[in-house]
Amino acid sequence: MRVLLTAFGAGLMVLAAGIGLSLANPETGGNALKPVSAFSEITDESERSAAIFTEAGKVIQHPRCLNCHPAGNRPTQGEDRHPHIPLVLRGAGGFGEVGMQCPTCHQRANVDLAGVPGHPLWHLAPIEMAWQGKSLGEICVQIKDPERNGGMSLEDLIHHMSEDSLVGWGWNPGKGRSPAPGTQEQFGALIKAWVETGAACPDL
Ligand code: HEC
Ligand code: HEC
Repeated sequence: MRVLLTAFGAGLMVLAAGIGLSLANPETGGNALKPVSAFSEITDESERSAAIFTEAGKVIQHPRCLNCHPAGNRPTQGEDRHPHIPLVLRGAGGFGEVGMQCPTCHQRANVDLAGVPGHPLWHLAPIEMAWQGKSLGEICVQIKDPERNGGMSLEDLIHHMSEDSLVGWGWNPGKGRSPAPGTQEQFGALIKAWVETGAACPDL
């Protein structure tokens, strides 16, 4: 019994050390992304491509991204993706209804004191780019579809994912919000490798 308890205790300590380590890593917010090289052992190219996209999906399906890519006309907030409080709606071009336009509250940068995230172009993703309520496979097919991705080629997508500063906000979300996993650079490298391996999608 004592041996068992000791083993249990040691297990807990390892676990605690693991948690401590991940919390102590501000760069990843305790949430890393695997590098492209981690997938080199998957010999089938299309399988490798889908696996790389699945890794990138840790970012795409993170609340920092999903909150602005909702299925309806109202953004969501927080880690639990609750409806935006107060009620705000899409409005013209995704910038909100008159009187409740996004830049009324969302400034050009995060305002940590008030807990309001910010960016010069803060607005809602168009409805055809809705990601909430979809599987990663469905999002993958949609992201590749110029009819639903704002007319982007795969090359454009690589640039958007790795360089767009609104996307980049996901790693600089202000106080009290968990950043997306890894870094935007690592995320961009995964998207590039995904395209170069044929942009295959995980199962729907
Ligand atoms: C503040 C709202 C907001 C946030 C946060 C946001 N997006 Fe978007 N996203 C948009 C808007 C708006 C567009 C439409 C293009 C544009 O105007 O930039 C868009 C378009 C896109 C597109 C291209 C179209 C598509 O859906 O295929 C991609 C890819 C994308 N976002 C990725 C991301 C990722 C990844 C994150 C998180 C790291 C993210 N976005 C976070 C608002 C947001
Ligand atoms: C009346 C002020 C107000 C208006 C107008 C407003 N917001 Fe917000 N929004 C806030 C506040 C405050 C927060 C932070 C609340 C929190 O995180 O708990 C927030 C948070 C968010 C978040 C959550 C970020 C995250 O990942 O947690 C998104 C997404 C968002 N707003 C999108 C929008 C969009 C898009 C518009 C315009 C259509 C808009 N907001 C208009 C006040 C506003």
